[in-house]
Amino acid sequence: MQISKLNELITPSGTMAISNKARLLKQQGKPVIGFGAGEPDFPTPNYVIKDVQIAAEDPVNHKYSPVAGLDILKDEIVRTSDLYSGINIQNDNVLVSNGGKQAILTAFLSILDQGDEVLIPAPYWTTYPEAVKISGGEPVIVDTSFEDDFKISTSQLDSLKTNKTKILVWVSPSNPTGVVYSKKEAEDIYQWAFENDIWILSDELYEHLVYEGTTSPSPAQYDTDLKNTIVINGVAKAYSMTGWRVGWIIANTDVINMAKKIQSHATSNVSNLSQIAAYSALKNGLGETEIMKKSFNRRRMFAIEEFSKIEKVNLIKPLGAFYLFPDISYYCNDKVIPGVNNSIDFCNWLLDEHYIAFVPGEVFGKNGYLRCSYALSDENLKEGLERFAKAIKSLK
Ligand SMILES: Cc1ncc(COP(=O)(O)O)c(C=O)c1O
Repeated sequence: MQISKLNELITPSGTMAISNKARLLKQQGKPVIGFGAGEPDFPTPNYVIKDVQIAAEDPVNHKYSPVAGLDILKDEIVRTSDLYSGINIQNDNVLVSNGGKQAILTAFLSILDQGDEVLIPAPYWTTYPEAVKISGGEPVIVDTSFEDDFKISTSQLDSLKTNKTKILVWVSPSNPTGVVYSKKEAEDIYQWAFENDIWILSDELYEHLVYEGTTSPSPAQYDTDLKNTIVINGVAKAYSMTGWRVGWIIANTDVINMAKKIQSHATSNVSNLSQIAAYSALKNGLGETEIMKKSFNRRRMFAIEEFSKIEKVNLIKPLGAFYLFPDISYYCNDKVIPGVNNSIDFCNWLLDEHYIAFVPGEVFGKNGYLRCSYALSDENLKEGLERFAKAIKSLK
């Protein structure tokens, strides 16, 4: 009995692996502080809960609903995409999905044929390459360096483009680096993609979480017919709604109709109650997001300050999302910490010996780094970073 060859191709989500190990240690009573989670530590806004409670009583929500999503939610996505992102679309340019994650997979499945290549800037969010492979495509990694602020350039893209290149993945603000491209930098990349007739899959999950300057403009502002652009968005990060699982694809109707076919066989509609929750979140504006953002910014500044005091750790100041991506390569050396040769070893050492959980850079295609989420309470952030500093000091 054989299982699919995909088994050799894809790996499980690495961010989940470290969270699971941290959870196990916690269950054993260890005082673990987790910097691994990719989700806000705030509750979902109360008005969302209230609206869902009312909706749960309505029998219409106990039945199947349209595959592409409830009209009230899609209309709200149309309204807020225009309001916040300057994207002018119609209701039939939207497909609601089970989180941004499913939206991304469905978008790849809708566009890619066997062997098509997808350019993925590294460090990358761990799901992109795997979702490309599941869809029959080939991930082509566009590596970036600390010296270049983890930003890709059009000359790099030129050198990696082949006649099979079909999609460029674009995410700004970025998970895991928190890097935000300037308007000009973004425009150069978009122009390159449009001129080369390559799709841009623009993941805009973190668009509202920018602390300095402005967020990058969406490529859909320039490609107004959505000829080459697919936007991915959702409520998980900006409204603290990770568990509700609502995201969406914005694309031209050919792509949406294809995505609809796939989703009709995969999951049908997203849970009606979750869609109502997302509708409520969008309808009530960004007030709660702004409050959350203030806390994130305070923690961001604190964490940057703390890392700057630690010897031989280098950091690019992140402008968005809720992650830091420090260079800890000096410590990935057996001579500095016995048994530690890469960032996976380093993160295991931090977790096993000091009960602090970070995600190793390898998960994002970059050895020598770790991802530190600052979406945790001020107390835990302080305590966890003190432990990190002590752990490093103990090496002398
Ligand atoms: C860059 C990025 N895109 C998409 C997602 C998916 O979000 P969700 O599926 O929770 O909506 C995440 C979640 O971590 C992310 O970091």
